[in-house]
Amino acid sequence: MISIDLGDITILDCDAIVNAANKTLLGGGGVDGAIHRRAGRELLAECRTLGGCETGEAKITKGYNLKAKYVIHTVGPICSTQKNQASLLANCYKNSLDLALKHDIHSIAFPAISTGVYHYPLEEATKIAISTVKTWLDMHKDYKLDIIFSCFDEKTYNMYQRYLEA
Ligand code: APR
Repeated sequence: MISIDLGDITILDCDAIVNAANKTLLGGGGVDGAIHRRAGRELLAECRTLGGCETGEAKITKGYNLKAKYVIHTVGPICSTQKNQASLLANCYKNSLDLALKHDIHSIAFPAISTGVYHYPLEEATKIAISTVKTWLDMHKDYKLDIIFSCFDEKTYNMYQRYLEA
């Protein structure tokens, strides 16, 4: 099932929340900063052992002080003229979902990856997020997974609502 939540991803009580991280995986601003603040210092300590993360890839850690048992860290593309930005962004969702399957995760929340500091156009990013998730679910019909799109503001929420109903 796919749903949308307007609010803070760090308080969601689901198996995993996804972090829109940077390649160092050593924290930052935006949702990355919020997740690290609420998870506590042990999250950073575990992230230090991961050796970073390439754009489009995803790595998993415990959730520590979060309600979520896991954090899946993925690195979205920084919007530029490079033509493979769309596939890199799609890979963030696909690789995060593949990790959820591998770790028997049955509820996962995604922020609007790359649409903040990385300036990916919201409408295009929303379409990529929804189509990638729907395709993945179609290919894994036998795996129960609830997906929440966590929207931090009305603009993002309305965009997801518009394209989920499309
Ligand atoms: N809960 C849910 N969504 C949030 C939260 C939160 N607590 N805080 C921010 N967001 C939203 C933003 O409003 C935006 O819609 O997450 C989306 C992604 O924005 P960013 O966090 O800026 O992430 P991104 O655009 O992928 O840029 C990643 O920013 O924080 C740094 O270390 C991070 O370098 C990396 C870059």
